[in-house]
Amino acid sequence: MIPVPAKAGAFYRKEINMKAYVIYEAGGPEKLKLEERPIPEIKPGWSLVKVTGFGLNHSEIFTRQGLSPSVHFPRVLGIECTGTVAASSDPKRLPKGSRVLSFMGEMGRAYDGSYEEYVLLPNDQIYPVKTRLSDAELAAVPETYYTAWGSLQNLKIKADDRVLVRSAASGVGIAAAKLLRGAYPKLRLSGSTRNLNRAGVLKAAGYNAVILDQDGRLQTDQTFDKVLELIGPATLRDTFAHTAEGGIVCSTGELGGVWNIDLEPIQDLPANGYLTSFYSGNVSAEKLGAMLAFIESRGIDVRPDRVFAFDDLPDAHRWLESSAGHGKAVVLTAQKPPLDGSPDKA
Ligand SMILES: NC(=O)c1ccc[n+]([C@@H]2O[C@H](COP(=O)([O-])OP(=O)(O)OC[C@H]3O[C@@H](n4cnc5c(N)ncnc54)[C@H](OP(=O)(O)O)[C@@H]3O)[C@@H](O)[C@H]2O)c1
Repeated sequence: MIPVPAKAGAFYRKEINMKAYVIYEAGGPEKLKLEERPIPEIKPGWSLVKVTGFGLNHSEIFTRQGLSPSVHFPRVLGIECTGTVAASSDPKRLPKGSRVLSFMGEMGRAYDGSYEEYVLLPNDQIYPVKTRLSDAELAAVPETYYTAWGSLQNLKIKADDRVLVRSAASGVGIAAAKLLRGAYPKLRLSGSTRNLNRAGVLKAAGYNAVILDQDGRLQTDQTFDKVLELIGPATLRDTFAHTAEGGIVCSTGELGGVWNIDLEPIQDLPANGYLTSFYSGNVSAEKLGAMLAFIESRGIDVRPDRVFAFDDLPDAHRWLESSAGHGKAVVLTAQKPPLDGSPDKA
């Protein structure tokens, strides 16, 4: 436990308990139950992180809905966080008070995740960071920007490529646009959406052109050299049909809710084309460090699109699922939302 003062009393109770959202059964955002629980104790190889913020991800919606068979309830969800080390089993690498981030590695799935004030994490999954980014900016980065970064590397983007991001308004899609613009200011970058009302948001993020994605079909005759496919198997064949000869498709997302594809490579793949993927679960500290350095040196705007207070987490899930949701939403554990409820830039 966190050190306890000699005299127990109100302060004592406050210091050993924390707030956590626990899910006991699958369902809507109302199934995220806010509770008081004891702050976890550290154990060998694991350290305690005081959570300052965390990003929300589409996979957490799937898990909440009961679509992650390996996740057993009750569970505290949340696959990423930023914070400071509160108690360490490796004080040399992870001194108390140091600023850190963490994501994936079965966090919020096999063991409790970031939807709580303190989270117990394996040391090898805690990454110390030195950055000028604010808490809200840093909270927006780990899972979403790392996924976009890794996918774009696998696409082997070149400055003269014609690039399409399918589901451009998703958190990963907006992150991809910002990273690409930082690297290639003149890149021809298109983004698809099912809702053309998002065109303004997409252009502000860096897209030159916005394409309607209607009933799983891109409403264009254009082809692209590189495609970041975030809807996944549900639209992959249509994506291949819009991929130029020798092009590369990186199928990273599964927003369409379809996990497999019956593929006939000779017929279905683009001529002389390539299909690849990216999995953020394989976190490389080196790759993560390179990405954070790139974000800072290029001044990439990683501010989240929405910031929610911890007490409003179920509303944050509702927003992400709604047609209003786009880009990255983060929850700040110790912050109240803006009084005017505006689309809050951190
Ligand atoms: N491979 C990995 O390691 C990895 C890591 C992170 C994320 N991912 C995946 O990447 C995808 C994006 O994640 P995210 O957290 O950035 O998503 P997100 O922000 O929740 O994406 C929301 C957007 O998805 C689109 N969308 C929602 N339902 C859809 C449907 N049924 N069909 C087509 N489009 C739909 C909507 O765009 P419009 O309304 O504008 O069309 C919506 O704005 C997810 O599938 C996620 O699981 C994979």
